[in-house]
Amino acid sequence: MTNQPFDFEYLRKLVYKQSGVVLESDKDYLVTLHLGRIASELQFESIAAFIEHLKKSPFNHLHIQTTDALVNRETSFFRDRHPFESLQSTILPSLIQSRSSQRSINIWSAACSTGQEPYSIAMLIRETFPDLKTGRIRLIASDFSQIALDRAQQGQYTNLEISRGLPTALRDRYFRPIGQSWQIVDEIRQMVEFQQLNLIHPWTALPKMDIIFLRNVLIYFNLETKRSILNKIQHHLQEDGYLFLGSGETTLHLDPRFQAIQGKMSLYHQLRSAT
Ligand SMILES: C[S@@+](CC[C@H](N)C(=O)[O-])C[C@H]1O[C@@H](n2cnc3c(N)ncnc32)[C@H](O)[C@@H]1O
Repeated sequence: MTNQPFDFEYLRKLVYKQSGVVLESDKDYLVTLHLGRIASELQFESIAAFIEHLKKSPFNHLHIQTTDALVNRETSFFRDRHPFESLQSTILPSLIQSRSSQRSINIWSAACSTGQEPYSIAMLIRETFPDLKTGRIRLIASDFSQIALDRAQQGQYTNLEISRGLPTALRDRYFRPIGQSWQIVDEIRQMVEFQQLNLIHPWTALPKMDIIFLRNVLIYFNLETKRSILNKIQHHLQEDGYLFLGSGETTLHLDPRFQAIQGKMSLYHQLRSAT
C-alpha cells in the first residue's frame, strides 16, 4: 500500500455527520492505523484512493464501516470501579426500597460499546441482589455502532478483554471458555436489552430512567452536541435519578439543571430539583 496524503477533512465531516464525534486534526495517525487495514482488504492501492472512492460513492456500508473504525470504542469491565461500588452499596439499595411499588428500576448504558459496561452492571445485580425478581430491573444498553452492538450481543471476549477489570471469581462464575475466548453465560446476557441508538438523533421508545451511564462519550462531542444531549438526558431521567459520566466529563458550564454530587464511593450527577 502506498503512502499518499489523504483528505482528512472529508473524514472529519463524515464522522461528525454520522456520530457527532469531532476528530481532532492531530488524530490523522488513527486514520492510517484503522483505515489502512480496510483499504488494503478492499485492494485499494492507498488510503487516499479509498477515500476518493468514498467521496464518489453514494452513502453505503463502507461509509458506515469507515465511521465506525474512526470512533473510539475503548472500554473495559467495571471501568473506573467507583461508579459500580456506588451502585452496589448505596444507589441500588435505596432505589429498590423507594421503587418497591413500581414495575421496574430502569438502567441505561447509553454508549455501551462492546458490552462490558452493561454486563458489569448485570453481574453486579446478580451478585448483590440475587433475590431480585426478573422484571424488577430493566437494563437497556445502546450504541450507534451496529458493529459494536453485534459484538456486545454475542458476549464473547478475548483473553485480553477478559483480563481488563473483571475479577477472576466473576469470570469463573459468569463466563465459559471457548477456544481462545470467553463466552458470557445466557443468564447474564439475557438481562441486557441491546438497541441501536444514535445520541445525536431523536430518542424514541425509551422509558424514563432511574440510572443513566453516559460515560466516556461526551468527551468526543463539541459544546453544542454535549448541551443538546444533556438536554435530552434531562427529559429521560427520573426527577430523583442518577447520571454517571466518565471521570474526565462534567455537566459544569454545560447544563445548570444538573449538579455534581460527591457520593461515598463516587461522583454522580442529579437534577437540582432532586436534592
Ligand atoms: C470510548 S467508548 C465508551 C464505552 C463505555 N461507555 C465506557 O465508558 O467504557 C465510546 C462509545 O460511544 C459510542 N458513540 C460515539 N458516538 C455515539 C453516538 N452519536 N451515539 C451513540 N453512541 C456513540 C462509540 O461507538 C463507542 O462505543
